Amino acid sequence: MNYLSKICRTTQPYTAGEQPQDKKYVKLNTNENPYPPCPGVGEFINNFDREKLKLYPDPENTALATKIAKKYGLSKQNVFIGNGSDEVLALCYPTFFDKDGDGVAYADVTYSFYKVWAKAFGIPSVIVPLSDDFRFNVSGFKQAKCQGMIICNPNAPTGLIVNRLDLIAIIEANPEKVIIIDEAYADYCNCTMANYVSKYPNLIIVKTFSKSYSLAGARCGYALGSETLIAGLKTIKDSFNSYTVNRLTEGIAIKALEDNKYFNAQVDKIIDTRDKYADELRGLGFDVMPSNTNFLFAKHCEIAASELYYQLKKNGVLVRHFNAPRVDAYLRITVGSPEEMTVLINKLTKIINDAHSNKKSQEEE
Ligand SMILES: Cc1ncc(COP(=O)(O)O)c(C=O)c1O
Repeated sequence: MNYLSKICRTTQPYTAGEQPQDKKYVKLNTNENPYPPCPGVGEFINNFDREKLKLYPDPENTALATKIAKKYGLSKQNVFIGNGSDEVLALCYPTFFDKDGDGVAYADVTYSFYKVWAKAFGIPSVIVPLSDDFRFNVSGFKQAKCQGMIICNPNAPTGLIVNRLDLIAIIEANPEKVIIIDEAYADYCNCTMANYVSKYPNLIIVKTFSKSYSLAGARCGYALGSETLIAGLKTIKDSFNSYTVNRLTEGIAIKALEDNKYFNAQVDKIIDTRDKYADELRGLGFDVMPSNTNFLFAKHCEIAASELYYQLKKNGVLVRHFNAPRVDAYLRITVGSPEEMTVLINKLTKIINDAHSNKKSQEEE
């Protein structure tokens, strides 16, 4: 007897980055922010009246939606809020794609959850491969036969961006298709397309508080889009779980949005650290992709990424290695604080030097 559905039995779930509970690592594996959220968030938590948890939250999260809308010069009807951008992206599938439709298009090397959601919701996938050097295939997306598409910009795990004019060309070439742009990392290169939501009725921008606002643990993300697309997302959400974002998280996200000065300072710090340590990695023999995000995608000229991942973990540093076609030679390294990045560089230097001495002594034997 098998009680599980066919979809459940055949779905390969997303493998989330390790969240180890055994010991303390220098944690550079899930693109979290090394800095705490802004002080207003701390004050909000300290002053939060626990009585408020007796009641369900506002299912529309109106206070937060209004705040987000104001930030982008939109109305709250253009904002959909979810329990992390993963939830928002997942809900996009049944909202915009049919099981018997032309499918959802996405790149071959991109956020690996896109493929998992397609499988889990029974929606066909249309893969548009990146070039050999991981560049985005603009003409492939312009002409893709699909019901809609997801573009991760900047892309993960490569860290590369698609330029604004190319995105506009894709949106304009496909007025009958929904174009979803996942901007989880866009704050690190100031490349948001949020301003185009009022111009293009087929555009959805998905953003998160997890990375640049240091709120991965609070779980909050949102989509911006035309009233029709957002109303569609609400219909599907209310057919699944009406109260996705809790009262604490809503208040925390509002506080985070209020402190622009803190936000900009943290983003600038990450960008400075990223650029400095990308050079340090190059000095150790890594080929590092030009990053527009809070992570570095890097391949060593001699030592396999799987081996470096393993040795780093043994030495208390966690990075991400994807055992997948095209990317298995690379490590994805989150940009931590300068102190954390110094530990990384020191450990890598030792690992690489040890590998050299081992090789030399083997050659001499
Ligand atoms: C490209 C991309 N999109 C979306 C997410 C989901 O973020 P969250 O659910 O924390 O908002 C991630 C998380 O790492 C990501 O890398």
